[in-house]
Parts: sequence; C-alpha cells; structure tokens
Amino acid sequence: MTAAPSLTDDEIARIASRIDRPVVLVGLMGAGKSTVGRRLATLLARDFVDADDAIEDAAQRKVSEIFEEFGEAYFRDGERRVIARLIEENSGIIATGGGAFVDPETRALILEKAIAVWIDCDVDTLVERTSRRDHRPLLKTGDPKEILMKLHGERAAFYSQAQIRVLSEDGPHSNTAKTIIEAIDRWL
Ligand code: S3P
Repeated sequence: MTAAPSLTDDEIARIASRIDRPVVLVGLMGAGKSTVGRRLATLLARDFVDADDAIEDAAQRKVSEIFEEFGEAYFRDGERRVIARLIEENSGIIATGGGAFVDPETRALILEKAIAVWIDCDVDTLVERTSRRDHRPLLKTGDPKEILMKLHGERAAFYSQAQIRVLSEDGPHSNTAKTIIEAIDRWL
C-alpha cells in the first residue's frame, strides 16, 4: 500500500481555492468513485453528487430497473443529459457511473468543462469490491471477473483520456482522495 500524501489542511485549502471547475471521477465499477468522491468533497469543502443517484432521482427508478425496462441505450441517453446538467449546476465533485466516460458526447463535455480523474484499479480488487452488493445490471449477465476484465480492456483507451489518472489500491479511500488532490495540484 502506498503511503498517503502528507498534505496539511492549509495546503489542501490552497489547492482547493485553485480548482475552478467540477472534478469528475471516472473509472470502472468498484474503483471507489463514490466513496473516494465523498472523501474528496469533504477534504476540499465542496459538494458531492453521484450521477447514478441523480439519474435514479430524475427517472424515479433504480438503475437496474431502467436497464431492465428500457435497455442500456435508453439509460445512456438519460445519463448524458443528467451529467450535462450536473456539470452546469455543480462546481464540486461528481462521481459518474463506469460507462459514462465511454460515451463520446459525455466524455467531450467532461473534458471541456471539468477535470476528469480516472480512478484505475486492478481487476481482482474490482471483483472483490463489486461482490459486496448485487445492484449492477452489467455484472449479472455472466461471470463478474470475466466481465470486468473485458470492460477494463475495452474501456482503458477511453478512461486514459482523462486529464488525471490515479491508482486506487487496497488501502483507505482517503489515501486515494489525497493522491487525487496532489495530482490536481501538479496538473493545474
Ligand atoms: C455501469 C456502471 C454503474 C452504473 C450502471 C452501468 C457501467 O455505475 O452506471 O450499472 O457501464 O460500468 P458504477 O460504476 O458506479 O457502479
């Protein structure tokens, strides 16, 4: 496990004051986007929003129900609209669902108006973390490890277009949040 960057509260506040756009977390299911996002928002004293929760609020249905009743293409349309709205409304931290940044329009919008952070993670850790809950429709269609390996292979080329990449290791999510703050500081 990599040690957390030793940032003081003052250093974090100084970095936060330079962040003038939303920070959008992208990456595969189980990478920790929502948990890390909440930590990041607390550290930077910003709002946090989870795009999947916002989609569920707008649709008044669970993500799994949207996939089941209307299919993935319909979900992606709604996801695109909701993320565009969140970016307009929000200058804090936005966690996106794992497929959002693969959509060309959503990706272009995020890259133009926000700072995209790819939380990368090894597949075994993703398998372990996603096995704790069973709400993800894409992981119910076969062996989760095979699906995650396939998605990792297919999506890495898209995720790697994010301005920032950090590796989420099996340590506390606050380490990843601090690593992101340091990486944003270097990037700005
Ligand atoms: C998806 C990831 C999920 C959710 C939907 C589709 C994907 O979000 O948006 O099930 O295509 O990878 P999380 O990455 O938050 O699990």
